[in-house]
Amino acid sequence: MDFQYIRVYRYEADPRVGAVQLNRPDKLNALSLPLMEELITALEAFDADPDIRCMVLHGNERAFAAGADIDEMAQADSVEMLLRDQFRKWERIAALKKPLIAAVSGYALGGGCELAMLCDMIIASDTAQFGQPEINIGVMPGAGGTQRLTRTLGKALAMELVLTGRFLSAQEAYRLGLVNRVVPAEIYLQEAFALASTIASKPPIAVRLAKEAVLKALSTPLEIGLEFERKNFYLLFSTADQKEGMQAFQQKRPPQWRGR
Ligand code: COA
Repeated sequence: MDFQYIRVYRYEADPRVGAVQLNRPDKLNALSLPLMEELITALEAFDADPDIRCMVLHGNERAFAAGADIDEMAQADSVEMLLRDQFRKWERIAALKKPLIAAVSGYALGGGCELAMLCDMIIASDTAQFGQPEINIGVMPGAGGTQRLTRTLGKALAMELVLTGRFLSAQEAYRLGLVNRVVPAEIYLQEAFALASTIASKPPIAVRLAKEAVLKALSTPLEIGLEFERKNFYLLFSTADQKEGMQAFQQKRPPQWRGR
């Protein structure tokens, strides 16, 4: 498929890892409607491709993404925004079944920060900056910022970031649990791909059900989450990979996953 605003490829060293690069560098990867349409199409295609086990989303060194496209919204009225309902579509990224890792360098602001938080893990370059500066242009986060930031950072800090527009440095984001790790800018992509490749080497159905269960923790009371977890655990006992994994352990050999 031909894309104008993104670059879609497979990680050379491990073709089980699918990658998407946001590719609107002159606009700091501002997340326009057509860009998001392409991004969701590409990620859903990887999600449906049985040869792909894990995905990486990245921008360039200067910007992961500097937010939703302000030029597209500047003149809109609320009825137009409501009918467009552009951010509802973004939840399709949270609904992907395969793990998605964000590799963030430079700006991850507004929608860019929200997009990174829609991913399952974040690898940050030491140049990364996260923030929700919408307050500075007369609005507020609309693609999950007030909810996901609060669940991750807690009320006090999320409130501060959303009400002041202050950016978090990569180190701060790491200390607060927003990102998995911070590495030098020269190797942030390599690091994200290495993590994706590790996950791609695991039994895919177990990966899928485990991802579902972790995400469930964010949207359910503990008791329901625990029940969901137990059922997913029991479900894995009808996979060939569970038999293989446990037998390989007993026979002291590496497992051969079939993805069944
Ligand atoms: N939407 C549309 N265009 C954007 C954009 C956005 N969210 N963020 C950056 N751009 C464009 C700029 O308009 C500029 O385009 P131009 O060269 O045609 O004028 C280009 O990207 C480069 O940005 P610029 O502002 O010149 O770079 P900078 O280094 O001076 O500042 C930022 C970088 C990130 C601090 C600044 O671009 C910014 O504040 N962006 C908006 C962040 C934001 O409010 N996001 C939430 C949106 S809801």
